[in-house]
Amino acid sequence: MNPPATPMMQQYRELKARDPDALLLFRMGDFYEMFGDDAERAAPLLGLALTSRDKGPEASSMAGFPHHQLDAYLAKIVAAGLRAAVCEQMEDARFARGLVKRDIVRVVTPGTLTDDELLDPKQANYLAAVVESASKMGLAWVDLSTGQFALARLERTELAEELARIHPAEILISEIALDSPWARMIRSRGETSITPRPSWDFQPEQALGVLFELLRVTTLAGFGVEDRGPDVQAAGALAAYLKETQKSDLGHLRKLTPYRRADVLGIDETTRRGLELTRTLREGKREGSLLAMIDQTATPMGARLLAEWVAAPLTSIDLILERQGAVAELVADADARQAFRSDFGQAYDLERLAARVGAGRATPRDLAALGRTLAILPRVKARLAARHSNRLKQLEAALELCPEIRAEIESALVDDPPLAVKEGGLIREGYHPELDELRDQARGGKTWIARFQAEQVRKTGIASLKVAYNKVFGYYIEITHAQAQARGNAIPPDYIRKQTVKNAERYITPELKEYEDKVLRAQERSFELEYELFVSLRERVSAESPRLIQAGVVLAQLDAFAGLAELAVRQGYCQPRITADPVLEIEAGRHPVLDILLPSGGFVPNDLRLGQEYGDVLLITGPNMAGKSTYIRQVALIAALAQIGSFVPAKRARVGIVDRLFARIGAADDLGRGHSTFMVEMTETANILHNATKRSLVILD
Ligand SMILES: Nc1ncnc2c1ncn2[C@@H]1O[C@H](COP(=O)(O)OP(=O)(O)OP(=O)(O)O)[C@@H](O)[C@H]1O
Ligand SMILES: [Mg+2]
Repeated sequence: MNPPATPMMQQYRELKARDPDALLLFRMGDFYEMFGDDAERAAPLLGLALTSRDKGPEASSMAGFPHHQLDAYLAKIVAAGLRAAVCEQMEDARFARGLVKRDIVRVVTPGTLTDDELLDPKQANYLAAVVESASKMGLAWVDLSTGQFALARLERTELAEELARIHPAEILISEIALDSPWARMIRSRGETSITPRPSWDFQPEQALGVLFELLRVTTLAGFGVEDRGPDVQAAGALAAYLKETQKSDLGHLRKLTPYRRADVLGIDETTRRGLELTRTLREGKREGSLLAMIDQTATPMGARLLAEWVAAPLTSIDLILERQGAVAELVADADARQAFRSDFGQAYDLERLAARVGAGRATPRDLAALGRTLAILPRVKARLAARHSNRLKQLEAALELCPEIRAEIESALVDDPPLAVKEGGLIREGYHPELDELRDQARGGKTWIARFQAEQVRKTGIASLKVAYNKVFGYYIEITHAQAQARGNAIPPDYIRKQTVKNAERYITPELKEYEDKVLRAQERSFELEYELFVSLRERVSAESPRLIQAGVVLAQLDAFAGLAELAVRQGYCQPRITADPVLEIEAGRHPVLDILLPSGGFVPNDLRLGQEYGDVLLITGPNMAGKSTYIRQVALIAALAQIGSFVPAKRARVGIVDRLFARIGAADDLGRGHSTFMVEMTETANILHNATKRSLVILD
């Protein structure tokens, strides 16, 4: 059935055809409406009533919601793994001739969120792309909300492990690769939304071109990345997708970070899940994981960085010692630690603010929050200058104060600006002479009106005559019927009757009208000017977004160090001795999660000696509920914490770094996939035997 469409439905279909897979949220007055299949697909997911639009040839299902609930519904849409194209009215319906112009202003997808309302503050939100080329895999991932952009070359067998580490919200795959074995593996994971993309986007030449354009470079060598390779193809496909969906500046994406697997501890997906490093086994939630238990950071940026650290412990002794040095210094100096932490208490999410600024999406409140956060930087820098450890000194050098941005924001914006950008009240007095003048004119109204009213009272002899204002009629003179009668209805001839209300008449005079026009024009013009000033401020700040993000990255690190130090002090951790020897010695160790959950002293500490003269294998037996599983997990978690650079829950520890961690713990949750417990245990053990190296730590329960 293809009935002749009304102009509006024609407009709808044209917009819908641009991105058929996305739910089209079609703005109609105060509502966003969905039609047809979109309405039927979305209504049950979003809890909306499905109605039908018209009868006859145009009949279609329809579901909608009020415009001010957009954020709430976008959150539900992306949580369901869907995409939404937001279509707005591009002109004021009151002044439009014929059909209102409409356009898609942005496409919101699970992997491209930037609004705080739609994001978990403590979690990165990654969009990834995967491509296979000459039997190598290219993987790239980007967090649009912070500007983090990374890429890697992998073997096919390494892909699942890396995806488990990154945990992307959305993955782009070439439409012609959807049935390849690796793509089927990704789809079978089920937790990520898959977006098929044109294979063209993944072509080497095409991808490189788009990437050059995005990053404003002519070679990737400056990032330590070769211009050719599957990793670049994946990154280029990401860039193309962002360009298509964002329709905004991507000025905060200026850096590409190559990822090398050898730099981080190898943890396969089963191990990661079993140890509940960053999310729980059963529900996949952050809450209850090792990360959630040890997180003492004071800002969302610090929390996100710590999550990254826990997901990817290091393998380089130097890097581990560098982090450990920073933590140790903040453990030893309680005053410095507390001072940093109280500074962070006043910081906003600088990384995400800077990214929104870079995308040209910052609200006046975002800029004000940015200004306030920049205001704490000089203090932080001064405190850092007194530090001794390498890493903290590096942070001091890397922390840019961006004083001119702060000065601009502080001089231009009022302290607590409103969210709306077109209704005035944004710009500080004294910032712009013309604006001050317009405001004076608009405000000066008050004195003029008072004088005018006094004059009219004198002229008519009616003491209670009032000059007032309302939105519909503007300024008017009000005289009650009673008084008009008492005066024998002697109304001055220049009074023009405008409106009769219950017990009064309302008038205007030419003089009043003229004045009103002037005042309103001044106000209108001042609102416009404020908007222009705000936009130009936002553009100037936007040009600096890479520096601002850099400052955010420094704060994140410092917060993560101070958080780990705080944890170490609160829980009585020790600084582990890191060594290249294949050895693990733990004296009076505790399980990091139970140590926090159980009342103080509730956990009975254990020792461990493994490797070198102690032997490479330990076999633990004991009655049920004796604490065997707890003990072996504790060993793996302590090793992981040590390689993050953290202190560990023990009296004393010596940790030889390992390159891979394997944990085989409880298989019950895999029964759903049709494998028996025995079968799962055998395959997983086989995996360990194949992949374990001389430097691996293996725990088998
Ligand atoms: N060192 C400890 N101090 C205090 N409580 C502990 C300690 N170790 C384990 N527990 C607690 O004892 C209980 C049993 O621990 P766990 O599951 O490790 O035992 P298990 O020996 O593996 O048992 P099973 O043989 O049934 O698998 C858990 O509730 C755990 O919290
Ligand atoms: Mg057990």
